[in-house]
Amino acid sequence: MVGDTRKGSKVLNFLEDRFNLSTFLHLAEKKKVPVHKHSFWYYMGGIAAIYLGIQIVTGILLMVYYVPEIQSAHASILKINSQIDFGWFIRSLHSWGANLMIFVVVLHLFSAYFMKAYRKPREFTWYSGLILMVLCLAFGFTGYLLPWDEVSFFATKIGLDVAAKTPLIGGTIADMLRGGEAISQATISRFFVIHVAVLPACLIALLGGHLLLVQMHGMSEPAAFKGIPEAEKTYEKFFPNFFFKDILVWILALNLLFILVTLAPWGIGPEADPFGAAPLGIKPEWYFLAPFQFLKLVPPMVGPIEGELFGILLMSVAALGFVIVPFFDSGQSKSNSKIATVYGVIIAIAAVALSVWGALS
Ligand code: HEM
Repeated sequence: MVGDTRKGSKVLNFLEDRFNLSTFLHLAEKKKVPVHKHSFWYYMGGIAAIYLGIQIVTGILLMVYYVPEIQSAHASILKINSQIDFGWFIRSLHSWGANLMIFVVVLHLFSAYFMKAYRKPREFTWYSGLILMVLCLAFGFTGYLLPWDEVSFFATKIGLDVAAKTPLIGGTIADMLRGGEAISQATISRFFVIHVAVLPACLIALLGGHLLLVQMHGMSEPAAFKGIPEAEKTYEKFFPNFFFKDILVWILALNLLFILVTLAPWGIGPEADPFGAAPLGIKPEWYFLAPFQFLKLVPPMVGPIEGELFGILLMSVAALGFVIVPFFDSGQSKSNSKIATVYGVIIAIAAVALSVWGALS
């Protein structure tokens, strides 16, 4: 036993001399997490990170058998689902994982918003987060086309047609993504490269910056907690206390993923026929349902402006609120703080209501 301990400390000493491990441990121990009734939301970023890990591992495994060619893409997914050992399992982990990850990132975004974690000095943590959100949605959009089934094909077509309506840049971006005027081999090649190389590189680099900023500034404290006299505030050490709880929460999050994967393995629809008619009632993935439903509600013409263009402009203005909020609600003005909260509540309710409406209609 004693011999084992000595052996353990020798290894640690070896690593310590070469990597200065104690510096990292010291940093992690110095970080403290405020304990209050909203502390639960501090777990969201970590859950998003663990789901991201699953996406990377399963994505790499899927690449071994997936073929990004219009003649073979659908067949390669069928093969993964039915002939490759555990192929259905890995693919379901990737598909369910994508949905859970986006869901958790949305929760993380809104919880950071309502805890006012965008305020000084965390403006850039917030902005890096906003870009991460866009990257996650881009992952969803590009990945959706890859199985080349009917629904994914036509949903992508509609998505690109709508994106093309964005003033100034929309048309060019849609053409570049499509690789021409129609969805073709060029599109699937581009989507594949963006999905497996461009987005992961951008996401990992940005996430590194995001986590570095979190480490630099520590966890934010909600206004109610800040108001408590210093002596009555409770904190816990990030390492080992919060970190071990993080691991427990990850286990729960992974359990949820495994339950979904085993009870409802991800299927695949009939192969896309680019010359066929779009199936009736085609809808995008749930995370694009809110803007999709909103655009359906806008009349074809609003005054002199085309309805879809008007809808896109209106949604862009609404989304701009998330960009200016760190400066609008910097903590100096109570009324601005209230306006920011009300704005967040309206956006959250509108997004949920439009998504549910879109799913049911
Ligand atoms: C791939 C997606 C993301 C990952 C993996 C991630 C990860 C994390 C982690 C691990 C933390 C520390 C623990 C926590 O507060 O939950 C954190 C904090 C934070 N994140 Fe993210 N994040 C992501 C996306 C976002 C998004 C979309 C936003 C908002 C626009 C955002 C804004 C923030 C802010 C403001 C903090 C500091 C919270 C505080 O100090 O209370 N993150 N993130």
